[in-house]
Amino acid sequence: MSEYILEMHQITKEFTGVKALSNVNFKVEKGEIHCLIGENGAGKSTLMKVLSGVYPYGKYKGDIVFNGSIQQFNKINDSVDAGIAIIYQELALFPDLAVYENIFIGNEVENRGVLDWNQTIIESQKMLDKVNLKVNPETLIKDLGVGKQQLIEIAKALSKEVKLLILDEPTAALNEDDSENLLRLLRELKSQGITCIMISHKLKEVISIADKATVLRDGETICTLDASKGEINESIIIKNMVGREINAIYPKRENKIFGDKILELTNWCAYDAQLGRQVSKDVNLHVKQGEIIGLAGLMGSGRTELALSIFGNPKSYKLQGDLKLHGKSRQFKHTSEAMKAGIAYVTEDRKGDGLFLIQDIKSNISVANMKGISSNGIINVNEEIIVGEKYRKSMGIKASSLEQVVGNLSGGNQQKVSLGKWLFVNPNLLILDEPTRGIDVGAKFEIYTVMNKLISDGMSIIMISSELGEILGMSDRVYVMAKSEIKGVLTSEEASQEKIMQLATQ
Ligand SMILES: Nc1ncnc2c1ncn2[C@@H]1O[C@H](COP(=O)(O)OP(=O)(O)OP(=O)(O)O)[C@@H](O)[C@H]1O
Ligand SMILES: [Mg+2]
Repeated sequence: MSEYILEMHQITKEFTGVKALSNVNFKVEKGEIHCLIGENGAGKSTLMKVLSGVYPYGKYKGDIVFNGSIQQFNKINDSVDAGIAIIYQELALFPDLAVYENIFIGNEVENRGVLDWNQTIIESQKMLDKVNLKVNPETLIKDLGVGKQQLIEIAKALSKEVKLLILDEPTAALNEDDSENLLRLLRELKSQGITCIMISHKLKEVISIADKATVLRDGETICTLDASKGEINESIIIKNMVGREINAIYPKRENKIFGDKILELTNWCAYDAQLGRQVSKDVNLHVKQGEIIGLAGLMGSGRTELALSIFGNPKSYKLQGDLKLHGKSRQFKHTSEAMKAGIAYVTEDRKGDGLFLIQDIKSNISVANMKGISSNGIINVNEEIIVGEKYRKSMGIKASSLEQVVGNLSGGNQQKVSLGKWLFVNPNLLILDEPTRGIDVGAKFEIYTVMNKLISDGMSIIMISSELGEILGMSDRVYVMAKSEIKGVLTSEEASQEKIMQLATQ
């Protein structure tokens, strides 16, 4: 008989107006890697928050049996003490503190009652080694990209005595290599007896790593699939997740017609004075009307920096070279000038600079284009609702109402709001930085369909993505970056996973 480390019985959790979980049953065997999957808003993160005491005992219905006994966690520390570590979807590190301080915060290394920082640094180095991350423990968190920050979250979890490790979309922000690393790490931890629950929208990795996979849909348990019975494959997963079959992940685009060059960069250089280094080197690139350009590369290859240097240069890089928009050389002093000229940029970090989390959906969608909902300088509240409703429908944003605070939306739905906001600006050139990070397969398809429609309406898109499948599936041409340079450009016919990786690792 197998032994369950965790049994969640009949869990129901309601927020005002939203039933996030309804009689959910979820059982995890000791030592297995169990994936929790389902569409955006299905209730995955909520279920894990119930388990970890974020929503304390009494704020949900049902029972949690962990390690053989019924648990009533009143706060997060209770679940930590029981041996449960959870890494949230939205990272929770302190940007102004060093790596080692973040790893051991609340769990400091003491020597006779005194904090021992030297020992803390040594210990954190060990944790960093465990997650194969090569950074100096004294680096500040804010100087690291989101991908590295994710690994630090995991290092932090490992610094405690953990029996059950919960990861909410751990690889969403990681490139293929780092994701592979992480999956290897999870297998290693499994061999040490650590049980793991992983939430992921990346079916490929679910298939490669899961012993079991439980599917949630609309707050209910649909089924638990078992790899040893051959049940964990793409078609079974998708069918159970969305309740229907999806034939193609990337929608076909008819009649590709490209117009004039919208954007052209010539010998474009950007120098970051703060970091004291070149972040874009001699970039030559163009985008035509009606074209989707894929910008591929490993994390840190300079893709986001390039996007920022085009989008009004908010980081105040020293720029050199020529930027032409519609054939005219332009210099933007501010993002507002770039926006006026028809450029929009959907950031990869929706929490940091994409959204106003304490505001509702409709005001987040209208915020970048107040003119669009005003007449004679006065905001028309009804118009704001109409616009919000339009994007809620077309993007399939799942929420109880337009008044729902964005911070309470599921991760994927936040991403859709962020995209809706920029679509409402109606740009000519849309720069998407990791547009489908954290988005479920069904919604990905919807977003790709939206992209195709925008293109056929004459827009141009630059799509930065670490998912090679998406780059290959959506781009007309692919520029590959490494070390702040363009290492090559491939047509959609030429492009392949191997060729891109080869250029990206130059
Ligand atoms: N604090 C909250 N207040 C109100 N509603 C909430 C709150 N937290 C979550 N919800 C709602 O509960 C539902 C489930 O959300 P949850 O975050 O668990 O989804 P998820 O499966 O993790 O989705 P994703 O894949 O997008 O991260 C959603 O409809 C969400 O809007
Ligand atoms: Mg979630």
